[in-house]
Amino acid sequence: MADFPARRPRRLRTRGAVRDLVREHALRPEDLIQPHFVYAGAGPDVPIASMPGQARLCEDRLVAEAARAWEAGVRAVALFPKVDDALKSLHCAEAWNDEGLVPRIVRRLKAEVPDLLVITDVALDPYSSLGQDGIVVDGRIDNDVTLDALVQQAACHARAGADMVAPSDMMDGRVGRIRAALDAQGSTDTLILAYSAKYASSFYGPFRDALDSAPRGGTDKRTYQMDPGNGDEALQEVALDLDEGADIVMVKPGMPYLDIVWRVKEAFGRPVAVYQVSGEYAMFEAAGRNGWIDRDACVLEALLGFKRAGADMILTYYATEVAERFLRR
Ligand code: PBG
Repeated sequence: MADFPARRPRRLRTRGAVRDLVREHALRPEDLIQPHFVYAGAGPDVPIASMPGQARLCEDRLVAEAARAWEAGVRAVALFPKVDDALKSLHCAEAWNDEGLVPRIVRRLKAEVPDLLVITDVALDPYSSLGQDGIVVDGRIDNDVTLDALVQQAACHARAGADMVAPSDMMDGRVGRIRAALDAQGSTDTLILAYSAKYASSFYGPFRDALDSAPRGGTDKRTYQMDPGNGDEALQEVALDLDEGADIVMVKPGMPYLDIVWRVKEAFGRPVAVYQVSGEYAMFEAAGRNGWIDRDACVLEALLGFKRAGADMILTYYATEVAERFLRR
């Protein structure tokens, strides 16, 4: 027998009240960002088959859902437009049409739910007839031609009143170019949420169904999104984006990349977002709907895991639901 008293870590787990006192991390509604899919005009919610429970919303419904998110304590929504095929092109000019769907919705949201932060996606895939985030020249994504387009898109969103623009395209040098363009038009308070470590992931499949934006014509996204085998490279991408003026950096997807969330937070100590993507959502729904897992408990555990890993904020399709059902203050 040892001559010191038994060490009993379980003492801290004996009662719920003690566990509550010593818990290191917790989820708050303010940590959550709700992504929404929106289409132009009016009409019914269009369910997304591979994301049961999620739908493309018309403009009025989007505003209503965003107001609901705000009421539940969620502080931000991220908008993803479903663009009509007739508006898609190779040069993607609809992406910076000041009268287009995204700027129109941003103006409405800022008028009707003024305190809610509106985040817009800066990338060309919803507007590209090839489903690529960049502009294709001679069969390749041309980085610098794409930058000119992204800059116009970001400036257009900021003019409409977007609180944050979120480049998700993974072109080199876009954050610096976007920051300069925003400042030049006086949008100095518009934040940049950079998708800095965005991996070429198979977990985006259901999202591409939602927007009908899967890459067409052979080329996938591996020439710009990151290789899932790389970790150090994520830190380099984050360093560049911070250097170029990113206010918040993002890691995406979420659960398979928790190590990256942790490393980015440890290395830089700056605001970090993580995106629990469509494929993660689909897995919780599939297993939950089959009765194979306790869906609610597993979702909450996964979201808490992001906080523990160092994320300050989480983009999740569960944001409003979780805030309403479990986190209401
Ligand atoms: C594209 C974009 C994607 C997602 C967000 N922005 C898909 C892609 O890169 O192909 C994925 C989000 C999700 O899967 O939930 N700019």
